[in-house]
Amino acid sequence: MSQLVYERMRDALEQLNMPRALEQVDALLDRAGSSELTTVELLDQLLGAELSARRERSITMRLKLAGLPGIKTIEQFDFAFQPSLDEAKIRDLHTLRFLAKGHNVIFLGPPGCGKTHLSISLGHSAITAGEMVHFTTARDLFVKLHSSDGLHFRRLTANRAKLLIIDEIGYEPLDHEAARNFFRLICDRYERGSIVLTSNKRFSEWGELIGDDTLAGAILDRLLHHATTFAINGPSYRLKEKRRAGILGDADRKGGEPN
Ligand SMILES: Nc1ncnc2c1ncn2[C@@H]1O[C@H](COP(=O)(O)OP(=O)(O)O)[C@@H](O)[C@H]1O
Ligand SMILES: [Mg+2]
Repeated sequence: MSQLVYERMRDALEQLNMPRALEQVDALLDRAGSSELTTVELLDQLLGAELSARRERSITMRLKLAGLPGIKTIEQFDFAFQPSLDEAKIRDLHTLRFLAKGHNVIFLGPPGCGKTHLSISLGHSAITAGEMVHFTTARDLFVKLHSSDGLHFRRLTANRAKLLIIDEIGYEPLDHEAARNFFRLICDRYERGSIVLTSNKRFSEWGELIGDDTLAGAILDRLLHHATTFAINGPSYRLKEKRRAGILGDADRKGGEPN
């Protein structure tokens, strides 16, 4: 290959924004030159390297945009610690069939039982599979929905995400405005985009939480129409870790956790 063609080829890779291919092309040409690779194999490896770099970049970008509070994966989850949880069902969720169908997932249970961990891990699986995810605590969500660009947030962020994770519904009661905004959001996403939601409250307590039995009924009706609910009634993993570290004695075993 003449110097000119070689330079034009490198220049093209640069202009086409293919940095990984540019990085690897010399080594691949060397291997092709010594007949270690055929021309097709060279092209295959060059393009494959660029494609996997693109996949990595887009996962990194979607992870950033998702706003997950850290990375938690299903591999890190100790199912033996939470026997009330159906492991097969959780693993089935990670195939993301529910996402393809726009179905919802609800994790209910006391503090520390793994609700946020399981939600984040679903978000992580979805991002790895190339989907847009948005994570928010309920508290942040209602602040954003109430703000002057609440509608903008609903349209551009909350509704555009393939998966919306709403963490910790139930720690604070909703005022009328928050309840109405929540209802609108649930209607927007109904049968269109999946929601993963966590709560420390049982559904029977949502009327009180939302301050309006009719509205709570309408929200739950849509949310639960296509949903898998996990009511986890197990111990707190946080307390287990504290106990192991000797911070709590056995006397605290039955005590509640302040969260
Ligand atoms: N079964 C589990 N296996 C491994 N880590 C767990 C498990 N359950 C909870 N954790 C960890 O314990 C902490 C509290 O869990 P979290 O999901 O925040 O609980 P919740 O949201 O139900 O209050 C997190 O650091 C989480 O990763
Ligand atoms: Mg939590």
